[in-house]
Amino acid sequence: MTTPIYYVTAEPHLGHAYTTIVGDALTRWHRLLGDDVRFVTGTDEHGLKVQQAAEAANASPREFVDGVAAKYVDAWAGLNIANSDFIRTTEPRHRDAVLELLQRCYDAGDIELDFYRGKYCVRCEEYYTDDELLPGDLCPIHKLVVDQVEEENYFFRLSRYEDRLLEWYAAHPGAIVPEFRGNEALGLIRSGLRDFSVSRTSLDWGIRLPWDDRHVAYVWFDALTNYLAAVGFGRDPDEFDQWWPVDYHLIGKDIIRHHCVYWPAMLLSAGVELPKGWAIGGWLLVDGEKMSKTTGNVVQPLDLVQTVGVDGFRYYVLADTPYGQDGDFSYDGLIGRYNADLANNLGNLTSRVTTVVASKCGGLGPAPTADGPLVDAAAAAVAATAAAWDVVAPSRALESTWRLIRETNAFLEANEPWKMEPGASVDAVLGDALEALRIVTILASPALPTTTQTIWERIGLAGAVGDRRIPTDVVWGGYPGGSTVTKGSPLFPRLKV
Ligand code: MSP
Repeated sequence: MTTPIYYVTAEPHLGHAYTTIVGDALTRWHRLLGDDVRFVTGTDEHGLKVQQAAEAANASPREFVDGVAAKYVDAWAGLNIANSDFIRTTEPRHRDAVLELLQRCYDAGDIELDFYRGKYCVRCEEYYTDDELLPGDLCPIHKLVVDQVEEENYFFRLSRYEDRLLEWYAAHPGAIVPEFRGNEALGLIRSGLRDFSVSRTSLDWGIRLPWDDRHVAYVWFDALTNYLAAVGFGRDPDEFDQWWPVDYHLIGKDIIRHHCVYWPAMLLSAGVELPKGWAIGGWLLVDGEKMSKTTGNVVQPLDLVQTVGVDGFRYYVLADTPYGQDGDFSYDGLIGRYNADLANNLGNLTSRVTTVVASKCGGLGPAPTADGPLVDAAAAAVAATAAAWDVVAPSRALESTWRLIRETNAFLEANEPWKMEPGASVDAVLGDALEALRIVTILASPALPTTTQTIWERIGLAGAVGDRRIPTDVVWGGYPGGSTVTKGSPLFPRLKV
């Protein structure tokens, strides 16, 4: 599983956190399924944009990239991201992989010297044709005037790969989710492929071509190779065989062309297997605009974490926007969802169950019944949650889990165990509610790793919730009666809107 590697020209913001949290939750879900997951993220540190940013900051490129890369490492630790590796394109292992991939494509005859004259957006690190630009030679993404570039470049002969790419995608339906994003990728291929530049001469900060040291590798060729470098390409064949091909490249919709067109063509040329899958997310917009330094609408994850907690923030980004679509971030939306889903639903269920076990069951959680009214609801929640994660639809997965939370709360309200006398009837109700909560806790753990562990312990269960296995541990009947249940302070205190 991979995320894009983030440009060190920007500090980590909500948009970067979004893809990274989806990757983390998907990783945790697959670990519940018993899959051995290697989850890689990192930073994209070469290229003109970085060189210019370092100059502007009065630092050497090296000092500059070290400083910003450390901020990404810290940000992900702060959001409880369980990445297995953090790859930086300035590392020797990355350089080895880039040299190997370049050489293989060159030897295959797919890289040739040519002359380029045209428009370049440094912020995108991308070449544009006139018909792609907005009036006044403005980049369509950054709305800034592009540079006129004229130089000798090596080109990757992408135009040769049109048929092979279309054939490959036809033979691998569903490789890109969601489907409508896959159609966008196919549309790009069908609209005709232009060769793309793989080197620049007007740049120092990068990796020199193995066969011509006047040229530095174009930053996208360099960056994409991180996915191979992180699993030992060009260094450790055993490691590489173990982990490649990748199951999921998680990316944003703005980099479909690079990941779903350039990248598979580069791999075909080099004789490397293609990825098994891509999961493409939309953007989280702020006031309808993509967050960026240029537009000045950057939202820092840390500010939000202070308000709703790490799990509250993770839950919001996973639940609020169907993956693939654009979402609109708003502070009111964040607080509203936190109050409704976490404080009122999950928080309330936990607090009711633990309180009533204390007052009516002597603090020991009763065993569930075998055929209570929640049995089917729990099985349905498990199936729907799993089906949603299977197509990388975290918002749908959480919705399915939350349906079980609401049904369990409704079951408690219908039975009002807090009004019953201690005895078999109250035990039956609480046993079923505890069992539903136990299953919910496992299903929600990829999104809420810390708070689900707290619930797990409060209902008297041992070990780490993240070490459970699906489906074995979510079969109805797993809650062992007689466990010590403890009340605690509210997990998700209500916030004022
Ligand atoms: N360095 C390249 C990726 C190279 S991968 C081989 C790059 N970096 S980026 O930092 O600009 O963007 C990385 C990812 O963050 C992209 O997938 C982009 O879609 C995502 N996001 C950046 N801002 C975003 C939002 N506001 N919302 C959601 N994701 C967005 O491109």
